Amino acid sequence: MTRGVCPFYEPGLEEALGREMAAGRLSFTAEASEALRDADVVFICVGTPARANGEANLVAMESSAREIARHAPDGVVVVEKSTVPAGTAERVGNTLARERNGFRFDVASNPEFLREGTALQDALQPDRIVIGVESERARDVLRRLYQALTDQGYRLIETDIATAELAKHASNAFLAMKISFANALARICERAGADVTSVAEVMGTDPRIDRAFLNAGLGYGGYCFPKDLTALGRMAARLGYEFTLLKEIERLNDEAIDAAAAKVEDALWNLEDKRVAILGLAFKPGTDDVRFSPALALAQRLLTAGARVVGFDPQASANAKQDLPELEVASDPYEAATGAHCLVLATEWEEFRHLDLAALKQVMAYPVIVDGRNAFDPAEVAAAGFAYYPTGRPPVLQDRSTVVLPDLDEALLAGPDGPR
Ligand code: UDX
Repeated sequence: MTRGVCPFYEPGLEEALGREMAAGRLSFTAEASEALRDADVVFICVGTPARANGEANLVAMESSAREIARHAPDGVVVVEKSTVPAGTAERVGNTLARERNGFRFDVASNPEFLREGTALQDALQPDRIVIGVESERARDVLRRLYQALTDQGYRLIETDIATAELAKHASNAFLAMKISFANALARICERAGADVTSVAEVMGTDPRIDRAFLNAGLGYGGYCFPKDLTALGRMAARLGYEFTLLKEIERLNDEAIDAAAAKVEDALWNLEDKRVAILGLAFKPGTDDVRFSPALALAQRLLTAGARVVGFDPQASANAKQDLPELEVASDPYEAATGAHCLVLATEWEEFRHLDLAALKQVMAYPVIVDGRNAFDPAEVAAAGFAYYPTGRPPVLQDRSTVVLPDLDEALLAGPDGPR
């Protein structure tokens, strides 16, 4: 970072780093004392990973508070940026007070809602800025800090601290719920012969529902949704409330992987000695992040079932290989597809939508595509001669007229005259 090199892929970030560093507005140091010495405001942006029991691990929050108490000047405003359970600011404040006698400080919460892949845009053109403040000084300092954005009309919402902390967890859990809802609908659509994409379109025209985050697919991954969902559940339980809906959201998310794996199995019969190509390994397009990537969860499932799996991702291949060494990685989609009995589209990078289907078919052992993100045009894939298994939409099978669905209840199979 000190050299202006971004250690991860995030569009536009390295250019912005270079620009701000050259202008003298941004610098980095590994010395806490140097960073904190003259600070008016300190943002704590450390990771809050999940502990084995799902709770947020706040060790880095506490050690940040200790460093601040050691080095920051009196009057500093300490702002939580990290996603933390409600009540954490109070803990931070207690630590600051215990670590330094007579330390004058204010604590505030300012949750971050940016998405990987569009981080800069989300930060500089935010839907809303949330500040949880309980003192005039913190309110004044944060209002001034964001004035350039509020002057442009971006909305700033002021709450108490616990509300700001909880609003972040609530937002992520709600978005995850929308995705899981769409995935449950996909399972029903597959059985009913309906199209989940169109169902989502219809639902999305209602402004109370909104179309965003209703894309059925392999489910959500990444470093935020899975961990924030469990952290919220644990926090609620600690407060004596069982938020059972959160568990169901997770279960539906896992089921999305099961459904995709079942399609591969249905298409290929036995997976032993079969080669499966996976396009897209990052948890979503536009990033090289593979943490909790549904693509890798699926790859792991297929490997365990005996398949050989070869993946390709425009940015995340190296990270994927590090996480899952049994995975072979190819240097382009066509190389990945060569000799494959099935191709799974797992992460919908734009470039995959424009693949030369005829060329793919030529190099593959069997012409089978499982589209985990509904990225292909069913008519085009069918015209190119592939058996095509989309998500929550009718499959296009070239050589057979039925598709065996996973976990299908016998009762559902029963026609008017009883089980067939
Ligand atoms: C998320 C929140 O959106 C952001 O506000 C918060 O600050 C951090 O967590 P991010 O993890 O970058 O951001 O990814 P996001 O774009 O929200 O996608 C999360 C996952 O959901 C991805 O795996 C994505 O593929 C999946 N997803 C998203 C779906 O499966 N369907 C959808 O309709 C939308």
